Amino acid sequence: MKDFAGRTAFVTGGANGVGIGLVRALLAQGCNVAIADIRPASIDAALRALDNPRAMGVEVDVSSRQDLARAAEAVEAKFGIVSLLFNNAGVNLFQTVEESSYDDWDWLMGVNLHGPINGVMTFVPRMIRAGQGGYVVNTASMAAFLAAGVCGIYNTTKFAVRGLSESLRASLAPHGIGVSVLCPGLVKSYIYASDEVRPTGLKAGAKPVNTENVKRLAAVHEFGMEPDVIAARVLEAMREDRFHIFTHPEFKDELSEVFGEIMQDFRDYPVDPGHGQRTDFEKTRRESYRKQRRGLKAS
Ligand SMILES: NC(=O)c1ccc[n+]([C@@H]2O[C@H](COP(=O)([O-])OP(=O)(O)OC[C@H]3O[C@@H](n4cnc5c(N)ncnc54)[C@H](O)[C@@H]3O)[C@@H](O)[C@H]2O)c1
Repeated sequence: MKDFAGRTAFVTGGANGVGIGLVRALLAQGCNVAIADIRPASIDAALRALDNPRAMGVEVDVSSRQDLARAAEAVEAKFGIVSLLFNNAGVNLFQTVEESSYDDWDWLMGVNLHGPINGVMTFVPRMIRAGQGGYVVNTASMAAFLAAGVCGIYNTTKFAVRGLSESLRASLAPHGIGVSVLCPGLVKSYIYASDEVRPTGLKAGAKPVNTENVKRLAAVHEFGMEPDVIAARVLEAMREDRFHIFTHPEFKDELSEVFGEIMQDFRDYPVDPGHGQRTDFEKTRRESYRKQRRGLKAS
C-alpha cells in the first residue's frame, strides 16, 4: 500500500487505545476515517479532539452483522468506498477457561473473532467490486502466539484471528488487497476496563469484577507502548506489504524459544504405507502455499 491519500479507512475500536492512534496516523496521511466504536461518549470525545472534517463517527457493536452493514452504508454514503479496513476492536478477560462461562465465551468470541469476521464479510466484497485494491489489518496480539492459562478465551480468539488473516492474505492478493496481522505487546490503552462495554445480555455468567485486579492492570498498561508509535509501525508495515506486524521487538527471543519448542515435538517415526504418495502430494501443496504466502498466484 503506497497511496493512502484520499482513501477511506474504517477503524473498529477507533475511539481509544490502538484504534485512536491508527485514526490519527491515517488522517495525517490524507485519508477519510470512520471511527467505529461501541462507546458513543468516546467517539464524541475523539471527534472533538481531532476536529477534522475527514473524520466521522459511527456507533457499532462489531459482533453485530447488522451494525456493520448499516455502518458500511453510512460511511460509504459520506466518504465513498472503504478500501482500508482495520478490524481492531477487542476486549479481554483475565481468567482461565475452566473458570469461565458460556457468556464469557460468547462475549469475547463475539467481539474479538466475530468482529473481524463481520468486518471482512461486510467490506471485502465491496472492496473487490470497487476494484481499487486496498488493505485489511486485523489486530491480534502477541497472545496469538504466546499462550498461558490466564487468558484462555482471549488466546483462542487471537490465534483464530491469525489464521483468518493468513488465509485471507493468500486469497486477496490477486485482488490487489493486502492483509497484515497486528501483534502488539503491552499498549497504553483501556483494555483493562473492557467490562464497561460487556452487553447486558451476557452479564449473567460473568464473575464479579475484581476491582483490585483492574487497578493493577491499569497501572501495568500505563507503561504500554503509545498508540501513535504502534500506528506508525502499522503504516510502515503496510507500505512494505509485511504480513506480521510485530511492534514490540522485545518478544523476538521468546517467539524464537517457542518455535524451537514446537519443533521439538516432532518425532522421526518409521515410514508407514502411503508415505511416498503423501510426500509427493505435500510437495505440490507446499510449493503452492509458499507462492501464496509470497503473494504469487498458485498454479
Ligand atoms: N492493550 C494491550 O496491551 C493490547 C495488547 C495486544 C493487543 N491488543 C489488542 O488491541 C486492540 C485494541 O485494544 P486496546 O488495547 O486499544 O483497548 P481499548 O479498550 O483502549 O480500545 C478498544 C476499543 O474497542 C471498543 N470496543 C470494545 N468492544 C467493542 C464492540 N463490541 N464493538 C465496537 N467497539 C468495541 C472500545 O470501546 C474501545 O474504544 C484489541 O483487539 C486488543 O485485543 C491490546
